[in-house]
Order: sequence, then C-alpha cells, then structure tokens
Amino acid sequence: MSVTVIGSANADLVVDVERRPLAGETVMGSDLRVVPGGKGANQAVAAALMGATTRFYGCVGSDPNGRLLCDSMASAGVDISAVEQVDVATGTAMIQVTGDGENSIVVSPGANRLVDAAYLDRHPEWTSAALVVMQHEVPLDTLKYAAVRCRELGVRFVLNAAPAAAIDPQVLASCDPLVVNETEAALVSGSAAQGLEPRELAELLIERGARSVVVTLGEQGSIALDPNEGLLQQAAMKVHAVDTTGAGDAFVGSLAATLAAGGSLAEALAFGTRVSALVVQRPGAQTSYPSRDEVGD
Ligand code: RIB
Repeated sequence: MSVTVIGSANADLVVDVERRPLAGETVMGSDLRVVPGGKGANQAVAAALMGATTRFYGCVGSDPNGRLLCDSMASAGVDISAVEQVDVATGTAMIQVTGDGENSIVVSPGANRLVDAAYLDRHPEWTSAALVVMQHEVPLDTLKYAAVRCRELGVRFVLNAAPAAAIDPQVLASCDPLVVNETEAALVSGSAAQGLEPRELAELLIERGARSVVVTLGEQGSIALDPNEGLLQQAAMKVHAVDTTGAGDAFVGSLAATLAAGGSLAEALAFGTRVSALVVQRPGAQTSYPSRDEVGD
C-alpha cells in the first residue's frame, strides 16, 4: 500500500557549536555542512527506505539545493515525479547542533510556500494513496484543504504537527493519528492543557476530535491513544545521541510505512522507535537514515 507525503523540502545548513549564541552574541562553530532535510522530504525518505511505495508532493527552486533534495529522495526510492521546480529559492533550514546532540532550527520556507491547494489540484492523483502524511512546514491552508479532502474520500490522514501551531478543528477531525511531542500537544490543546500528563493530553485531543493520537516523549519513549487499541506505551531505546535532527521525521515516516502496510498502531510505534534510535546515533537528517536491513526484524 502506498504513502503520499505532502510537505517541505529544505537544504539543511548545519554547524556544530559548543553552545548556542545568546542574543547579540557571536560564537564560532564547525565547518558548514549542507545536507538534505525538510520535515516532508525526511518523512518521505524514511517511509520509502522502510519499504513503502512513496510519492512526495512539494516544491523546490531551480537551484543546486533543489537538485540535492531531489537526488536524495530519488536515491531513497521516493517517487518525485510530482515535485515542481519553481522560481523561488529552495527552502533552507539553519541548524545548530550542540555536543549533546540537540539542535536549534530556523526555517526559511522559500519554495515550500508554493505548496498550495492549486498545486495539489494540478496533481489530483495525490489522493490515490492508502495514507497521506503532512506536517506544518507548508501553508496551513493547504493542510486544511488536504485534510478535509482525505476525510471526504476516506483516505487515512497522518499529521505531524511540527513545528508547533494551533490546529483547525476540521484538520484535527481527520488525524489518524495526530503525532505530536509534548510541546506541540500542549499548544494544540490550548489553555486546557496546562499541567496535564501526556495521557491526559492525548485524551483531550481525542475529545476534541482526533481519531487517534501519538505523543512522543523523547527519552521517555511515546504513548498513543486509539479507540480500537486503547492506551499504548512504548519505551525509548537507550542509545548515545550525536544528532537528533530528523529523528522525529524518521519516526513518523516509519510509522506511516507500517500503517500503510496494514500494521497496528502498536506495531508502528515499536518500529518507529527502533528506526529513530538508529538515526540519533549519526549526523544529519536524511543522511542518518538506516536501510530496512539495518533495522532488522
Ligand atoms: O525535523 C528536522 C527538519 O526540520 C530538518 O531537516 C529541517 O529542514 C527542518 O525542516
């Protein structure tokens, strides 16, 4: 069964730093690395590497960064035939990575802004997949358009609400699952979320209309709430992280591949956890993604 990913493609401009600069401060970092990223492209690459027939819908500029993104996705097996080259620079992400593997990211959307409803209408076959995956790095109007269309057509819709932003109720009602970290879950849930435990946050999001919810908890693993499978808890794997960039995207892409293949949410959580544990042990986003064989059975 196939996966459609609609989303961003960014060239990641990565510098290792000992510590992040304070406001008004300059710090020296490592040499610059320019590597393929973007939450949408990352999730598409992960889904394809994990065995799903995957097509990516997005826009890049007619520039070397656009070529970098297309080459990376194509070599992972992603179908990029719907990618449009536009007259705007490819999206970029300025990323600082500290010694503990944590990152800070600023995204300049560039061509990702042109992933709009008109773009999807030029590629009407996007609805033919078993499952559609989106994130928050393309215009939120596009997200709403796609989410509503998926619900009308009975196409399973997975939303990774990153970066954090409020979610339209019509979008929330399509999510199966909504995948969020604790910060994103709290922002999506609004003031009612203050002081809630992850399980309570998931319950609140289901009450608000989500069909199922996954809350990722970093080193604490993840939980999920699904009307059919109940409350699921998945422990994280203990590994030494060198760069967490793109680990969440690898989790979402692997989860989507598992669900598209008919797996349960519990199986998808377990598999996504194994994949992201490998990813954090290597630098970069797509450059750190394992093959299906490396993940094992
Ligand atoms: O989730 C990681 C990604 O966020 C990076 O690859 C960067 O491009 C930003 O989109």
